Amino acid sequence: MLSFGIIIFAINKAIDYYSFVTIEKQMMEKADLSELSFREVLSQHRSSSGEPQTKEIVRLALEKLKASGKEVRIYDSSSQLLGLAVDGIIINEGKPIVFAKNIDKALGGSYAYTVTEDHLLYFATPIQDQYYQNAYVYEFVEDISYFYTMMDQIRYILFAGAGGFIVLITLSSLWIARNTTKPVKVLLGAVQSFSRQEFRRVHLKRKDELGMLAEGLDQMGKQLHDYIQYQKQFVSNVSHELKTPLAAIRGFSQYLYEEETEDKQLHKIYAHLLQESDRLTRLINELLLLSRFDKAGSDELEVERTEMNELIQQVVINMGAKAKEKGIAIIINRAEEGPQDESITKIYANVNPMLMSHAVANLVDNAIKYSDNTSQIEVQIEHTSSEVVIRICDQGIGIAGDELERVQERFYRAKNANTANGSGLGLSICKEIVARFNGYIDIESQLGEGTTVTIVLPRS
Ligand SMILES: Nc1ncnc2c1ncn2[C@@H]1O[C@H](COP(=O)(O)OP(=O)(O)OP(=O)(O)O)[C@@H](O)[C@H]1O
Ligand SMILES: [Mg+2]
Repeated sequence: MLSFGIIIFAINKAIDYYSFVTIEKQMMEKADLSELSFREVLSQHRSSSGEPQTKEIVRLALEKLKASGKEVRIYDSSSQLLGLAVDGIIINEGKPIVFAKNIDKALGGSYAYTVTEDHLLYFATPIQDQYYQNAYVYEFVEDISYFYTMMDQIRYILFAGAGGFIVLITLSSLWIARNTTKPVKVLLGAVQSFSRQEFRRVHLKRKDELGMLAEGLDQMGKQLHDYIQYQKQFVSNVSHELKTPLAAIRGFSQYLYEEETEDKQLHKIYAHLLQESDRLTRLINELLLLSRFDKAGSDELEVERTEMNELIQQVVINMGAKAKEKGIAIIINRAEEGPQDESITKIYANVNPMLMSHAVANLVDNAIKYSDNTSQIEVQIEHTSSEVVIRICDQGIGIAGDELERVQERFYRAKNANTANGSGLGLSICKEIVARFNGYIDIESQLGEGTTVTIVLPRS
């Protein structure tokens, strides 16, 4: 727009300049012709009477030139007005406006002109006598408003054309931008949902490079989807297959552990065997839970209106023993309303109580596992008009900023997690459970200071 404005400005100036050059040339030609006529009068008069007589010369010259302009004037070499004709009529008296500078310049030998505000052009040119002296100045006045009207028309055409051009350029740029950005947005949206492992079909109704790119993305999405499904199915099958033999191993280890009372060393080994088979059973159960999520739609889960204060209280009681082992205290901060003696506000959410307890227990388990002995864990329950907010805050080892996202992936464990055992599945299971009930999880953490995991659920 700016460069276009500069071009229009330059064209406008150029039109002004060349138009004036043209009009100046026209006036000079006219002045030349008038000068010829004037000199003719001069020479005729000299040949008839010998000595030039100014009055007579002026009269004759005016007679000849009176029609050559709106006004015609003749001055002598001392800038005195000798004669004047207006609209072709010779006038003896009158006090016209005189541009003295122009007359002086003409007496100096060159032409000069002035254009007034009402578009009248005063053009003065010198007339030489037989001795090549600038004896007279001939001045004519021309109305050049026709020229200004013409210029205005040219300008109007120029600006109207430029306006039309700008509108056309803007519309076509918008059209081009829309046509190229719209499909790019579609592709970008597809790539973003792929990164969230949502593999939807990508289709663009076009045969150009963007269309080909969409087709390629679509193929890629399909293959990735199939591959991930295959992997999940594989893990699910293996977990299923392992479940029965593992139950047998656990049963036998339990038996051996309980039966062996004499050999202390052997008793210790059986205890270890029992502990490990418990860990493996938990892992297999979690893997099966995840694969159940992968397969099931949310409608297959039993959901009921559950009071969250009660649920949290129960989880904390269940985890109490584990916390006590490390000398960790768990404090519950419930949402209260009104004076102390009033009953605790009941906060309901539509969840599956068993799964929800599992999720909260997982988070409390993490808080215990990744905290030092004798530290404190706080479980807060708050609510807004539409949400239930549960926070589990610990004073543990914390999670590095660049790992906050990754710890929610399956099997990912942070670099500082070797202080405790784990398989890296707990958080991803929590995330899936909470998402099933239309909620989400948020983690805030500071390395070495502590972690706060927040569950937000819609209130019912
Ligand atoms: N409260 C916490 N404090 C510090 N680090 C945490 C906390 N909670 C989770 N993490 C980090 O996130 C990782 C993933 O947690 P997640 O619960 O998924 O796995 P895990 O505890 O290692 O194993 P699992 O829960 O399957 O037994 C952990 O390994 C740990 O590095
Ligand atoms: Mg865990």
